[in-house]
Amino acid sequence: MQVLTDNHVLEEAVTYLSSRITRRPEIALVLGSGLGDFASQLVDPIEVPASAIPSYPTSTVEGHEGSLIFGTLKSQGRESLPLLVFKGRVHFYESGDLDTTTYPIRMAHSLGSRVLLATNAAGGINPAFSEGDLMLIEDFIDFSFLNPQWQVQSGTANHFKKTPDGYIDKHLSTLILESGSELGINLRRGRYCYLRGPSYETKAEIEMLRRIGADAVGMSTVPEIIVAAALGMRVGAISFISNLATGLTEERLSHKEVAQTASRVKQVFSALLTETILRIQN
Ligand code: HPA
Repeated sequence: MQVLTDNHVLEEAVTYLSSRITRRPEIALVLGSGLGDFASQLVDPIEVPASAIPSYPTSTVEGHEGSLIFGTLKSQGRESLPLLVFKGRVHFYESGDLDTTTYPIRMAHSLGSRVLLATNAAGGINPAFSEGDLMLIEDFIDFSFLNPQWQVQSGTANHFKKTPDGYIDKHLSTLILESGSELGINLRRGRYCYLRGPSYETKAEIEMLRRIGADAVGMSTVPEIIVAAALGMRVGAISFISNLATGLTEERLSHKEVAQTASRVKQVFSALLTETILRIQN
């Protein structure tokens, strides 16, 4: 099996992708469950299926189509920095391997991306939240008890020094909040709790997470954030509350429900992402 932290493996993928693009993608955007449609807004898109990229991991989860799209966003005379959009991600629960889960981030960084915008679908824990809300991730609780940082410096222990604000970039978060208020979105703010999954939580687990201060829960994003920040990228992250967490509603949780709420919230989420991306400067 190829080791995905091997620089040669990464170089092969980067060489292939560099031959397909004309501009360095400054911003990497990861689209979570059911949010893949956003990619259709890119101007002059170059779409590369995940399967065409050497060693690139492919996802098995519905709504996580595996492709990469390069392009820019244009709106009312404004143009964004070049983007690399990941339509779908590979979760830790699919591969059981953090190198695989974070491979796209290391690849984006090697291609020249300096900003990561990560999105996901999450269960709402904060009692003030409603299904369909959007939440700026201000901080996270890593309940996977796995740490992907060590690999960033080729296998050596790396006690990564966070900024005083943590992994999430304050300035990017401000841009997201400003974009939300410009668009009249009631953007929530909170702490995302990352669990390995793939099963949804029990009522008792959600009660525990609420007591320790989690506002939303999900099964992705945190390994990506940690690796991106350790590589020196500026990171911003947004959850869309696709459902209320177990025990907060009578409804039974399903991946279908997550996808249905995504299709309802898509337009608002797209508008928020577009406005935020247009505001990101070098
Ligand atoms: N729990 C965990 N992950 C999730 C949820 C949830 O309720 N909703 C979307 N992803």
